[in-house]
Amino acid sequence: ISLKPYNTFGVDVSARYFAEVNSVEELIETLKFPKTQTLPLLFLGGGSNILLTKTFDGLAILLNLKGIKEEIIDDNLVLVTAKSGENWHQFVMFCLDKNYGGLENLSLIPGNVGTSPMQNIGAYGTEIKDIFESCKVLNLDNFEIETLNSEQCKFGYRDSVFKQEGKGKYVILEVTFRLTTKVHRIDVEYGAIKSELENMGIDISTPLNVTIQDISKAVISIRQSKLPDPKVIGNAGSFFKNPTIPVSQFETLKQQFENIPGYPNGVFVKVPAGWLIEQAGWKGKQIGNVASNQLQALVIINATGNATGKEIFDFSTMIIDSVKEKYGIELEREVNII
Ligand code: EPU
Repeated sequence: ISLKPYNTFGVDVSARYFAEVNSVEELIETLKFPKTQTLPLLFLGGGSNILLTKTFDGLAILLNLKGIKEEIIDDNLVLVTAKSGENWHQFVMFCLDKNYGGLENLSLIPGNVGTSPMQNIGAYGTEIKDIFESCKVLNLDNFEIETLNSEQCKFGYRDSVFKQEGKGKYVILEVTFRLTTKVHRIDVEYGAIKSELENMGIDISTPLNVTIQDISKAVISIRQSKLPDPKVIGNAGSFFKNPTIPVSQFETLKQQFENIPGYPNGVFVKVPAGWLIEQAGWKGKQIGNVASNQLQALVIINATGNATGKEIFDFSTMIIDSVKEKYGIELEREVNII
């Protein structure tokens, strides 16, 4: 079966076997099936953070668990739980309709709820770790259902236990978020949000004038202005992480490249990968079917719709080599390579 509909790059790669599961029971039944024991497994969520580079000689399982439930805890706190197969943005919109605050800065991120903890999705000043309560997972070693809290998930920048020691060990079944119902934490400090709200004619001199719905609208507008819609042009958002380098290395680079941007973080400085890629001459550049996005160089796109995973991977290698040669910084892929 072709996995083209299940990856946002729109790469046409097939899997030997395919199953769609609609409940935890169906998932466990599929996993306990004797034939499954001998096969490599690939769990598919929204497909927005994977690059499939070759035929998958195993069983691909589409996690289609649906449902949202709410539990009011006190007059300003609600716990909202969504099953892993819920579409992320639809879930954010559901919460905004109910005026639950906390997810607004994460509007329009592609993918499903179940994969959001994997890479601790983040944008415009918020990461899911900021509003994460817990998640339920299926432990593949013993088929037990476990609950992991924020500490056990070991969230870091685009990182979690699910990408490290827990890799391949858990399937995320549902995620619970701590959201506000009355007094929301309005954060308009992120530069791009500030100017977008001003463009929208909103007075940002006091946060009281700004609603969580306004912030969501601003984020949607910023994202639409520079990130390609995967339904139209295949992509997986930022292809690389923003690298973190020691202050000393940054100071040395600054002598040679005086415009290099950097965001200090203790003894490290985070450098925007998009800037490095653009300065290395890749922004908007196309080779064969693959290109670096014209409006945000950090996003690699399936420009013609006919790119193979291998072509995209090779293109990313060329970018890594070129940035390394110019700046001595080694970019790390953020997308999962299968
Ligand atoms: N920049 C360039 N050229 C480019 C792109 C960016 O010079 O082609 C510079 C910009 O001028 C800006 C800086 O890089 O000063 C940062 O750019 P931007 O605000 O677009 O954010 P980013 O660091 O490139 C990160 C996340 C995005 C998230 C945005 C907004 C990572 C890997 N990416 O991108 O997340 O939406 O911040 O918060 O951290 C994703 O993970 O898929 C994703 C889109």
